[in-house]
Amino acid sequence: MAKHRTGVFFGTFDPIHEGHIRLCLAALSGGDVDRILVVPLRGLPDYICAADPEDRWRMTVAACSVDPRLEPLRIALDAPESSRIVDLLRQIRRRDDKSELVLLLGSDALLRLRELHHAKEILKSFRFLIAPRPEQDDLDALKAEVLALSSQGVRLRFLLMDPISASSSRIRSASVMAEDSGLPVDVEEYIAARGLYAQDIRIPQAGVWLPRLFAALNPHRFSHSLSVARTARRLALIHGLQPLQAEEAGLLHDCAKCMPIRKMQQIAREHSLTADPAYLQSGALLHSLVGAWVARNEYGMADPQVLEAISYHNTGIPGMSRLAMCVCLADSIEPLRGSNPRLDAIREVADKNLERALLLSLEGTSAYVRERGKELHPRTLQTIAWLQKLPGVQVSF
Ligand SMILES: [Fe+2]
Ligand SMILES: [Fe+2]
Repeated sequence: MAKHRTGVFFGTFDPIHEGHIRLCLAALSGGDVDRILVVPLRGLPDYICAADPEDRWRMTVAACSVDPRLEPLRIALDAPESSRIVDLLRQIRRRDDKSELVLLLGSDALLRLRELHHAKEILKSFRFLIAPRPEQDDLDALKAEVLALSSQGVRLRFLLMDPISASSSRIRSASVMAEDSGLPVDVEEYIAARGLYAQDIRIPQAGVWLPRLFAALNPHRFSHSLSVARTARRLALIHGLQPLQAEEAGLLHDCAKCMPIRKMQQIAREHSLTADPAYLQSGALLHSLVGAWVARNEYGMADPQVLEAISYHNTGIPGMSRLAMCVCLADSIEPLRGSNPRLDAIREVADKNLERALLLSLEGTSAYVRERGKELHPRTLQTIAWLQKLPGVQVSF
């Protein structure tokens, strides 16, 4: 059987961007590697990172949640300041001495191939390097290094990738984040909310909330929460609502989602959040009410409209505010949910008619639940009936 291949991707990831993720996904889908360890470094000898290591770590974890074969590893962040790449490689080897290691190089690292060529100790660990195919000029300039590597028995494989505008240095130097920033949506939201790379801070409490959410949620849920915040903000801007309220509610909406059900039940009982047995038996239902309680008591969220939006983000409720609609809808259409004809149709309607888009989304949920022979909570059915009677909802586009 062919030897298992583990990719190792060192970088400052300051910040991690689409170029990094695409390189990883291309290496995985091409069968070059079976999994990839993504290892953020503290810095480089000639480069001091602009963002704090913990912020870079959280963004890296969020971005890597796109594929379970991407494994963020914080060994460099936890290692003594004096640690070198070879020390980190030894640690990686100790964790896994069976697979062949393959080194992934980003575009910037590729242009520093000359330094790597001299780093014989590092090259001893790798017989195989992968990098995005550079521009022809860069390729010509690299010829000597590539030949030198191959004379040492190290193969370099270039992956053809779609051109992408992402570059960490461009992101760091832009005073306003470009529409096509080349950042994954969760990373883009993290940077904007937190005000990294000299952006204005958008969510005043983000410095406290993001670490807390990161600790409370699994990587997938953390990434989803960032994406919902971004989507809810966008919908609020389109529909003339308060963007900060929508963004904050989006960020916090699932803050209780990864809590064990027993803990949710305990909070619900102690604080009389609901007596509904259907809610008390289901984390999928209960996390919204408990989430609003946690948002108020542990995140200091005092805005009743934001708390309402969190409370009903899963079922909706007749008479709900348009802000709550934004969050409920953003939860179901955020871009990380992928693409299918039904979802894309709702996304299109969402930009024009909030009520109708929410109706379509809840009807879709209802059909999905029924198809699986499960019961929908009556509150969702009541919300659907309420939305159907609202003026302007039945128009078609
Ligand atoms: Fe939720
Ligand atoms: Fe959610």
